[in-house]
Amino acid sequence: MTERKPGIGTKLVEGGRRKEWRGRLVTPPVERASTILFDSVADLENGTPRLGEYRYGLQGTATHWALSEALTQLEQGAAGTALFSSGLSAITGTLLALLSPGDELLVTDSVYGPTRRFCDTILKRFGIVTTYYAPLIGADIADLITERTRAIILESPGSHTMEIQDVPAICAAAADRDVVTVIDNTWATPLFFPALSAGVDITILAATKYVAGHADLLLGTATATAKYFTRIQRTAWDLGHAVSADDAWLALRGLRTMAVRLKQHQENALTVAGWLKQQPRVGQVLHPALADCPGHELWSRDFKGSSGLFSFELTGANDAERAAFVDRLDMFGIGYSWGGYESLALPVNPIRTASTAPADNLIRLHIGLEDPDDLIADLAASFAAM
Ligand SMILES: Cc1ncc(COP(=O)(O)O)c(C=O)c1O
Repeated sequence: MTERKPGIGTKLVEGGRRKEWRGRLVTPPVERASTILFDSVADLENGTPRLGEYRYGLQGTATHWALSEALTQLEQGAAGTALFSSGLSAITGTLLALLSPGDELLVTDSVYGPTRRFCDTILKRFGIVTTYYAPLIGADIADLITERTRAIILESPGSHTMEIQDVPAICAAAADRDVVTVIDNTWATPLFFPALSAGVDITILAATKYVAGHADLLLGTATATAKYFTRIQRTAWDLGHAVSADDAWLALRGLRTMAVRLKQHQENALTVAGWLKQQPRVGQVLHPALADCPGHELWSRDFKGSSGLFSFELTGANDAERAAFVDRLDMFGIGYSWGGYESLALPVNPIRTASTAPADNLIRLHIGLEDPDDLIADLAASFAAM
């Protein structure tokens, strides 16, 4: 009999539910701990920190290990998942694990703003040089790789402007020169883009968004191949990164329903984006599943779906008019982050140093799980008042 590989929905339901961690409960419980007690000094001194072994709160408890294991199982070829206290700290912790003074780093120009800030301030202070590249560079990234290039950061789609990158081409060029690739895969998650299968070495999620799914916690994850996992996990501990057991448990609860939530975010966002496309005051709709979005053909080639976040251009609007458009919305919250069950709207201003943004005058929407007709009515009222 050939062994069946479980589907993604099954993995989300079963991941991390080892009997030794959950006993007779369905779900591994919240195990809060700083101190772990040993039977003797010899026992305490015996062994090294590792996931799955009680040692000190920093190394986690069954609650954390269950979340790590469930996430690792979503990526083929993954050796493990390190947990961090936020999406941003997963990115910065991973970079600190990989880079040394004198190294060069290539970063997509569409990168999440605080990642750019970390590169331009703290990494710069430690003698690491960042070069930004055009998100659509593809295989031509090879021309930017020097003897000193140690890592390439990808984010697909990019923050605010949503460009889809040619991840396999960039990773192939990197692998040729033994350069490590790191992707911020928060938008797609492994469900819509299994990053390690596309050639990426380390994939990062701001689990704050779709994994948690309820806008009530901060958490980051770095899932890596065997070549890099131990180094990243060790660095996370050396830096003292810890995640509360309550947050790990909530994230694990969120993960169980991520597939159904993402399906609905996808459907609702496509309905709203399609409607926006028909509106006279709307220019480009930067949604990876629509032809307006740079790299749309790569999305069609590589992705299994689209989530709830996209941007659109409010043509001819100045900053005050964009702000007024958002202020008038009733159903869309105004605030940072995304990936929760609720809809959000924000005027955004892309930062570019190495390329041109596809559009300005952008408003970013996160489409939640409300009825899309209600969201459309709210948007229509704000257009009508313009
Ligand atoms: C693409 C992307 N990556 C990373 C992060 C950081 O996640 P966190 O808020 O958990 O630090 C965000 C947050 O908005 C994001 O949009």
